Amino acid sequence: MSEEPASETPRAGLSRRGLLGLALGAGAAGVAVGAGAASAIALTRPDAASVADTHQFYGAHPAGITTDVQDHLHFAAFDVMEGASRQDLVELLQDWSYAAARMMLGLEVSATGAVGGSPEAPPDDTGEALGLPASNLTITIGFGPTLFSTAEGVDRFGLASQAPGSLAALPPFLGDDLDPGHTGGDLCIQACADDPQVAVHAVRNLSRIAFGRARLRWSQLGYGRTSRTSATSKTPRNLFGFKDGTANILADDTAALDEHVWVSADDGPTWLAGGSYLVARKIAMKIETWDRVRLAEQERVTGRAKGTGAPLSGGDEFAAPDFAASGAAGLAIDPRSHVSRAHPANNGGIRMLRRGYNYVDGNTALGRLDAGLFFLGYVRSPDRFITVQRSVATDLMMEYVTTVGSGIWAVPPAPSEGSFVGAGLFS
Ligand code: HEM
Repeated sequence: MSEEPASETPRAGLSRRGLLGLALGAGAAGVAVGAGAASAIALTRPDAASVADTHQFYGAHPAGITTDVQDHLHFAAFDVMEGASRQDLVELLQDWSYAAARMMLGLEVSATGAVGGSPEAPPDDTGEALGLPASNLTITIGFGPTLFSTAEGVDRFGLASQAPGSLAALPPFLGDDLDPGHTGGDLCIQACADDPQVAVHAVRNLSRIAFGRARLRWSQLGYGRTSRTSATSKTPRNLFGFKDGTANILADDTAALDEHVWVSADDGPTWLAGGSYLVARKIAMKIETWDRVRLAEQERVTGRAKGTGAPLSGGDEFAAPDFAASGAAGLAIDPRSHVSRAHPANNGGIRMLRRGYNYVDGNTALGRLDAGLFFLGYVRSPDRFITVQRSVATDLMMEYVTTVGSGIWAVPPAPSEGSFVGAGLFS
C-alpha cells in the first residue's frame, strides 16, 4: 500500500461527512463524490509498475466474483445504526466506494492516509498495510433483505419498493443450527486478497469509516481458498482433504455466467442488473469424526476420489460424472453423495459460482478444532441456491457438517467511475 503526497487530490470523492468525519477542520467537509473522483484515483496511483496485482472497483460486474480466487478472506456483515437516515446510508456507500476503489489500487483510504494528515488528529488510514502491495485485493459489497425492510416490516430508508422480489432471509434448512451472531446483516463486505493483512486492513478501515452509520454485526476470517474461478489455477482442497472447485463456473465462461450468476435486466430490479446474489454459509466440519472414517467411505460421501478429484464413475478430475455408471457394488456414484446431490443434472440444470474459504476459529471446549468451510456462492436468483441447498441438505456429507452461520445479500453491479456502489437504488 502506497503513500502519496497529501497535496494530491485531497479527499476528492468523499461524502459531505468525509471519512469518518475524521480530521475535523482539515478541509474535508463540503466535498461531494464527483465524476472526477475515480480518474483522480487512477492518476494518483504512484507505483505504476505494480498494477499487475490490482483490480478495478469500477466497471461492469462487481470485482471479487469471477476474479481469480485469492488466498485469504475477511468477510464482514454490518447493520445500519438505529436512527441513521437514507442520506447517511448514501454517504456511507459513497465513502465505502471511494475508500474501496483506492485500496484495490494499493492506495491508502484517503490522500492524507496514515501519516500525511494533521498530527493533532487520528489518521484517516490505520496504517498496517503501508508498504504492502495491493495483493489482488477485491472488495465486494452486498445489500441484505433487512436493508429494504426489517424483520418487523419497517422500511427505514424508503427502499422497500426497490427490493428484489426474491430477496428474503433464507428459509431454515435441515442441518442448520444458526448462531444469530453469525447470521444476516443489512450490508456485507467480502474482502479477498493474497495477503491476509491487506484483507483485514480493508475491512478494518471500512468498519471505521462506517462509524456512527453502520456497525459490525459479525465477521469471518478465511484462509486457503476452496474453489477456483480460472482454468489456470490448480483446484485447491477443503478441510476434508478433497479437491474443491473442480466443477465451478470459471471466469472465461461468459455464457454460464450470464445464465447462472449475473442478474439480467429482465430479471429486475433494474439497479441490480449486472450484479448477483451472494449466499454465505458458515459450515462447521466435524473434522475429528471425518478423520476416523475410512477412505472408501469418505469418497462415497463425496462422490469423487480423494487423490485425483475424479468422479467415482471414472476418468480424470474434469471428466463429467456418470450417475448411471455401475461400480463394484451398485452405482459407482452414490445418489446420496454430495456431488450427486449438488450436480446440475439433479437440480434442474442450476449451477452456481463458488468461492469459499477454509476457516479455523481455534478449538471447542471439547478440544476439537472449531473449523470448517465458509461457503460463498453467487447465483442469479436466491431460489436457485435454495433448490441446491435443499438437495444437499439430505446428502451423505450432512452427517459431518453443521451450518452455524448464514446470510444472503444482493450485490449491485460495479459502479461507473466516480459513482458509488448501489447508486441506481437511490436514483
Ligand atoms: C462443508 C461443506 C461442503 C463441502 C466439504 C463441499 C465439498 C465439495 C466437493 C469436494 C465438491 C466436488 C468438487 C467440485 O466440483 O467442486 C463439491 C461440489 C459442489 N458443491 Fe459442495 N461442499 C460443501 C457445501 C456445499 C454447499 C452448501 C453447496 C450449495 C448449496 C455446495 C454446492 C456444490 C456444487 C454446486 C458442486 C458442484 C457439483 C457438480 O457440478 O458436480 N456445496 N463440493
